[in-house]
Amino acid sequence: MLKGKDLLSIHDLTTEEVYEILDLAKELKAKQKAGIEHHILKGKTLGMIFQKSSTRTRVSFEVGMYQLGGTALFLSGSELQIGRGEPIKDTARVLSRYLDGVMIRTFAHADVEEFAKYADIPVINALTDLLHPCQVLTDLLTVQEHKGKNLKGLKLAYIGDGNNMTHSLMYGCAKVGMHFSVAAPPGYEPNAAVTKNAVEDAKLTGGSITVGHDIFAAAKDADILYTDVWASMGQESERQERKEIFKNYQINKELLQAADKRAIVLHCLPAHRGEEITEDVMEDNAQVIFDEAENRLHVQKAIMALTMCD
Ligand code: CP
Ligand code: NVA
Repeated sequence: MLKGKDLLSIHDLTTEEVYEILDLAKELKAKQKAGIEHHILKGKTLGMIFQKSSTRTRVSFEVGMYQLGGTALFLSGSELQIGRGEPIKDTARVLSRYLDGVMIRTFAHADVEEFAKYADIPVINALTDLLHPCQVLTDLLTVQEHKGKNLKGLKLAYIGDGNNMTHSLMYGCAKVGMHFSVAAPPGYEPNAAVTKNAVEDAKLTGGSITVGHDIFAAAKDADILYTDVWASMGQESERQERKEIFKNYQINKELLQAADKRAIVLHCLPAHRGEEITEDVMEDNAQVIFDEAENRLHVQKAIMALTMCD
């Protein structure tokens, strides 16, 4: 179903496609743990364009491609001719002649859309200012591992900035019938167009989307609590100002009291302890948070295998 397609946003996927990715990720994870070779993409090449920093995304895509029998090339945005003004549409057409797939981490979501429009190979969004779909598909797999296969009806509460993570979590929860509740400071709510799309998607699956400012209301009876940095990549100059604005938007022991007593805490990482999450909550939930980080590998392998296969 996903063969030859781009993966720019979870909103573009069907619910079946989301589960197809999660199921293959589980299968590939089991194979990798058992030492069973799975060279599904033997001889294939992935270009990895990075215009922002990364630890998890870079390493998991590169290692994942190797484990699938292919090769990945790290392409720094500043070293490509794109950094000297070569148009995105030309870069996309050139790279399509060499590669079998490309992943892009950049600022403007429109740049990834433009690249995908001109590329005739699958394009995977590895984070834009608007969306981070690979992370959220990973989060859904991690929730399944800790809460059971059936995601429908679970409540995920997101505390903090209405950013790329919030948007993709909204889309991901809506596609699988989960209840998503966000508490963000006034003025930092998620994008209105994304919220509208997610509300529409949720109507089809029995999920729901709630946007508010009260962290205790958002966290009430939640099965999953989620947070992310107060200042994302590209917002470094706002860091001090945001520290003041977001100081009450933290996952801590007191907030956990409002959630279901079996609630898990997720964080896409990197984390700023003492800001969006306390040291004790982070360490108490380290098992699940680092499972989440590991699952980037398995989920992205599934995405590459499904989109880049012959
Ligand atoms: N969560 C995530 O995307 O991490 P990196 O920025 O390290 O890739
Ligand atoms: N919102 C964060 C996510 C990092 C994975 C950022 O964009 O920097």
